[in-house]
Amino acid sequence: MPLVLGIETSCDETGAGLVRDGVLLGDALASSVDQHVRFGGVVPEVAARAHLEAMVPMVERAVQAAGVKLSDVDAVAVTAGPGLATAVQIGLAAGKAYATALGVPLYGVHHLAGHAAVDVLEHGPLPERCVALIVSGGHTSILLLGDLARDPIVHLGDTVDDAAGEAFDKVARLLGLPYPGGPVIDRIAKEGDPQAIHFPRPMSGPNDPPFAFSFSGLKTAVARWVERHEGTLPVADVAASFQEAVADNLCTKAIRACKEHHVDTLLMVGGVAANSRIRAMMEERCTEAGITLRVPSPRLCTDNGAMIAAVGDLLVRAGAPPSAPTIGAEPSVVLRGALISGPWT
Ligand code: KG4
Ligand code: ZN
Repeated sequence: MPLVLGIETSCDETGAGLVRDGVLLGDALASSVDQHVRFGGVVPEVAARAHLEAMVPMVERAVQAAGVKLSDVDAVAVTAGPGLATAVQIGLAAGKAYATALGVPLYGVHHLAGHAAVDVLEHGPLPERCVALIVSGGHTSILLLGDLARDPIVHLGDTVDDAAGEAFDKVARLLGLPYPGGPVIDRIAKEGDPQAIHFPRPMSGPNDPPFAFSFSGLKTAVARWVERHEGTLPVADVAASFQEAVADNLCTKAIRACKEHHVDTLLMVGGVAANSRIRAMMEERCTEAGITLRVPSPRLCTDNGAMIAAVGDLLVRAGAPPSAPTIGAEPSVVLRGALISGPWT
């Protein structure tokens, strides 16, 4: 079975992973997050420079962890988009260099397909059909998935403004908490009362599109509340109540999508899927509804190299055509399939 090297550099994590036949052999991750904290968000040039420095060491470390040799690699998969343009370009250039030097095919893959594919490494092959809720820092979508390596991906709904992770990051900022906001809110919310404040559940009216999301109004509602309570702000209660609103919103829509499309498996992936409250609520509601929930462990929910190796492994095993050596970075490419510039584009 072919050995696939995966490379991820779409945002502030430099990841490398090695997968063979659905099994993660080893991976390595470096983050430049500490360099972005004082700016309150990722600075693309800083991230790109950090990728350049970390790229080769991460590949070497992943190869070592996997107990293989670089020359054993049969294919290279790399995030070609979406993401920060300069960051994606570093990974793509590295992927081309490794593929050329090793004389193996290169697969330019969609970052979000990687988020979905990573679950295969922990929970085995995906069913024939499933609903996927992708909740990351840049995207929030409900999708209908068939064979991830062969079929086009159907969008049932997307966010019309902010992504769920972006909402966590912006609300954290409003509360004076550091970037990235998701993990901090997750932690602080444990000390707060999720029922203390009732924040709105956006896009949930009878005339709203059932599977679309909007988080900018929720962020504004939190901002207004924070303004009115300056000086006596119960940070933990606000964090818990905001998190509860997001969790309720995501669960209600994802489960409705499963029911309406007669699908019995829900896959929840992306950085926000690491959230402990969202995981617990989704598990509870899926059990009630008779739906099987699949969620990767938190470390594989946030960006990493294993997820790109996982999607590359699916593509290689499906006999997908490799990418052309001229492939470029696609910073805002929509998710239509696992392969960028695939037959569906
Ligand atoms: O998937 P990801 O690592 O990168 C993108 O592709 O965007 O997602 C990053 C996002 C950030 O907005 C971060 O705040 C959020 O995921 N996140 C969380 C948690 N861990 C990361 N949000 C809520 N709770 C968490 N525990
Ligand atoms: Zn991501």
